[in-house]
Amino acid sequence: MRTRHFLEITDLTIDELVAVLDASDAPRESVLAGKGVAMIFEKPSARTRNASEMAVVHLGGHPAYISQAEVDFDGRESVEDVTRTLQGYYSVIAARVFDHRVLERMTTVANVPIVNLLSDVAHPVQALADLKTIRDHVGPIDDCQIAWIGDFSNVARSLALGALMLGGQIVFCCPPGYGPTSTDLDQLRLVGGDGSVSTNDRRLEAVAGADVVTTDAWYSMGQEKEKETRSRAFEGFRVDAALMAAAKPAARFLHCLPAHREQEVTSEVLDSPASLIWPQAHNRLHTFRGLLRWLHDTGSIA
Ligand code: CP
Ligand code: NVA
Repeated sequence: MRTRHFLEITDLTIDELVAVLDASDAPRESVLAGKGVAMIFEKPSARTRNASEMAVVHLGGHPAYISQAEVDFDGRESVEDVTRTLQGYYSVIAARVFDHRVLERMTTVANVPIVNLLSDVAHPVQALADLKTIRDHVGPIDDCQIAWIGDFSNVARSLALGALMLGGQIVFCCPPGYGPTSTDLDQLRLVGGDGSVSTNDRRLEAVAGADVVTTDAWYSMGQEKEKETRSRAFEGFRVDAALMAAAKPAARFLHCLPAHREQEVTSEVLDSPASLIWPQAHNRLHTFRGLLRWLHDTGSIA
């Protein structure tokens, strides 16, 4: 059995993605008893760290939080040597990194699954929770239109790939220079699902017919130096009650969190009955458990 890695949602086939989402609803079983999951964080985290640690606990395993200061990738020793060391102790190595290439380097020497807990390019464990939240609270993804407002971020890319795999429709409404490039759109259209992707820079048109409206921070971790420029560029791309009113009457709001209240979204929307942010945040636990369960059941966790 080859070791499976999860750096992007497309590391799963469409059937496997459905299997992971289904496994998120499976009863807890101690399939990781006596095993450990290492989690290396180069950036802060509230949801990912805690949801993932508790998912390991639900499966009877041992979660280990490791800060970048402790391993010091490419300072104290190379990314490859950290991976070679930890895989002798742990059954899975997960990491949140600034540069996606660090995860790719880990996979070149890993004999245990490498899981992306967020990189500059992708946030696939977030996409699992987003897709489960839509499936649970909105309906089948293949019947769902998603309007993405704002930055084409790591979160946007992974959600779009996953939604397209499951036959959803996604419309991007982003300021000039911050949306998907033609190469990004080509990559999205290659995923092989029945979904469709389009762009529309007119906010009200972009959300017309949307079942889900969603957004992300205007500047991500690692982009703090761009704060002023980005804040100017994104003004006008805030999700507010007027924008929600232009979507379907039953439209729901999603946000990966942390939210910057009154910046990319108003508190009125975040705290409205349309908002799914808390079930979405809590689904991070269930979907990480589902991912680990699927890795175990398919033989990737020795
Ligand atoms: N959504 C998410 O990944 O949150 P954290 O950065 O708090 O982990
Ligand atoms: N795009 C954001 C998501 C945080 C969960 C970031 O990378 O900072």
